[in-house]
Amino acid sequence: MVAIQVRNVTKVFQAGRSEEVRALNGVSFDLADGQALALVGPSGSGKSTLLHLVAALETPSSGTVEVNGTDVGALKGKALSDYRRRLGFVFQRFNLIPTLNALDNVLAPVIPFRTTFDKQARGRELLAAVGLDARASTPPTRLSGGQQQRVAIARALINHPTLVLADEPTGALDSVTGAEVMELLGELRIALGMTLIVATHDYAIASRCDRIISLKDGVIVADDDLAPPADPMLTQARIGSLKGGD
Ligand SMILES: Nc1ncnc2c1ncn2[C@@H]1O[C@H](COP(=O)(O)OP(=O)(O)O)[C@@H](O)[C@H]1O
Ligand SMILES: [Mg+2]
Repeated sequence: MVAIQVRNVTKVFQAGRSEEVRALNGVSFDLADGQALALVGPSGSGKSTLLHLVAALETPSSGTVEVNGTDVGALKGKALSDYRRRLGFVFQRFNLIPTLNALDNVLAPVIPFRTTFDKQARGRELLAAVGLDARASTPPTRLSGGQQQRVAIARALINHPTLVLADEPTGALDSVTGAEVMELLGELRIALGMTLIVATHDYAIASRCDRIISLKDGVIVADDDLAPPADPMLTQARIGSLKGGD
């Protein structure tokens, strides 16, 4: 099943009074359900813009982005906020709230909302899945960069997303820690059956995905399928208990 259909998407930003920046220029691709896609390309090539369009944080100047058959650029009001809330988004700079402990950071997106699941139990389960169950009461300032990003990943998963978007999730980490964080994200993606899009300029990170789309100046210049990276049965055995949380 196709999870995401990007059709001839162009995004033009106004830069100054008369200048226009074509951040994306006629981008089209399909992404199958449950796949991990890496977006690579130099700074300014349009990776973040594409993630923002899929997240419905921006709308295309022309073309469409469909997620599970919905044109997300046309969403408004409650449908738009529901869509954004159900997405998982992981940022380069973690974006944790310094005054909250690790568990409360994981729970922050659901605090104002009624949920069909037990929030506390789900939060603890997710902290365990990222290896930080012993750090539930620790504030982010007392966690390492890699630990903070693992808290941020747990937070991104709190609403049972089927789609997770990560913008340079390893960009603020050293290469070993970055590889560990990416491996964790990849394992969770397989165990929970999520679709994942990761923007990165690190090829080692990108090569852990199923597919790599290379952007340059807002245009797709390469689209490569890679061999499946991990054995889903092994991953399922390790972190499979999370699946029944809904
Ligand atoms: N809000 C914006 N206003 C004006 N220009 C923007 C805006 N967002 C991105 N751009 C421009 O669009 C191009 C693509 O940026 P971006 O998607 O952030 O690339 P990447 O994430 O690959 O570094 C760049 O030239 C950038 O300066
Ligand atoms: Mg970017």
